[in-house]
Amino acid sequence: MKNTMKNVALAGVAAIAISMAGSAFAAKPIVGQEAADQFDALMAAVAKGDNLWHVPQGSNGLGCGNCHPDGSATQPESFPKAHRTLGGRVVALRDMVQWCLQAVSAADGFDYGSDEMIAMEAYATYMNRGAVIELGKDVQTGAVPVISGPGYPGTTH
Ligand code: HEC
Repeated sequence: MKNTMKNVALAGVAAIAISMAGSAFAAKPIVGQEAADQFDALMAAVAKGDNLWHVPQGSNGLGCGNCHPDGSATQPESFPKAHRTLGGRVVALRDMVQWCLQAVSAADGFDYGSDEMIAMEAYATYMNRGAVIELGKDVQTGAVPVISGPGYPGTTH
């Protein structure tokens, strides 16, 4: 039943898109005050991520910023990608955020979809803004070179 309702809703969206033939917009562009408000909300999430990034999240005293200064070597532009560290599965940026929280920083981790997890993604992505989206890329980008891990100079994988 739930799926059927979803299909009906999707069909409705498709019908609207088709009825707008000749236009590439699925919805009106967001402009003016609404756009400004949305940008402010985004920057608040980035600021929250910045704070979380720079305090230890777990029991070993390490914050993300110790190993990923300025969001470096997080490669948001390379996700989703198959990740050797997570058994070769195709994973999202948040999966590696969670891995570093739990396996490296000895923290509980954040619920997916929580304000905290979104903030971590917002900060990492913001700090790498301008990078070309290149799914699967295994080359380090970011402001500060980091010296171990995949794609890092001197490593073999
Ligand atoms: C002790 C150093 C260290 C700390 C602290 C650390 N990381 Fe990492 N991080 C790494 C290493 C090393 C890798 C590469 C792991 C691999 O692929 O085998 C990595 C990989 C990542 C990646 C994936 C990069 C890619 O292209 O695969 C993300 C995203 C990331 N870390 C986010 C974080 C976040 C968020 C935190 C804070 C909760 C954090 N890291 C804390 C060392 C660290």
